[in-house]
Amino acid sequence: MTLADDSLMRAVCLLSGTGTNLQVILENIATGNIPISLNAVISDNPMAKGIEKADTSGITTKVIDYKLYDEQSIYHDQLKQSVLIENPDLIILAGYMRILSDDFCETFRGKIINIHPSLLPAYKGLNTHQRALEAKETHHGTSVHFVIPELDGGPIVIQYRIKIHSSDTADTLKKRVQEGEYQIYSKALKWFALDQLKMKNDKVMFHGDHLDKPILIEEN
Ligand code: GRF
Repeated sequence: MTLADDSLMRAVCLLSGTGTNLQVILENIATGNIPISLNAVISDNPMAKGIEKADTSGITTKVIDYKLYDEQSIYHDQLKQSVLIENPDLIILAGYMRILSDDFCETFRGKIINIHPSLLPAYKGLNTHQRALEAKETHHGTSVHFVIPELDGGPIVIQYRIKIHSSDTADTLKKRVQEGEYQIYSKALKWFALDQLKMKNDKVMFHGDHLDKPILIEEN
């Protein structure tokens, strides 16, 4: 199966890990639910399982091993050049664990979408499930947002919210949050592919109107 198609919006995916979000995205591309052409999957981590998933689907893959670069700026330049070659309309971050350079964010402004495992703006950064538990939050979740140079700070499109139960651990939260990720990321990517979703002046535009607050989906 190849997921490259010249008649569709061109996309590149960046990841570092397991790639369960990528797997769901691939399934949605295959059924036509997300009408994009996924032209390349790039990882900073040679051990990323997500790269194997992309290979199995016949997608071009590339590893730019972060650890082999003494100078971060050269890594970031390699990454930018590898993405530019694909001339993408959309860059999907699916568990990409490096901070993108400001230059990368500016070069592809409005085209980079990320999913982050918290109800942003709460819990930017790492270990979000544990931090939400330790803070005795009543709710937790995940957010899809456009990427700007400020880490996890871009305008939010859609969120999935769960209640935290007294029996929850970081692992159970991760599992429940990821179930929501598969739903909301597919929705957001579909809207972007259909030109219904954009970022303009650092604001989310949905069906041509400014979205004042993120769309909210609650766990059943
Ligand atoms: C997801 O939880 C996502 O929110 C975060 O990285 C994780 C990636 O998981 N950005 P996977 O590799 O898609 O399983």
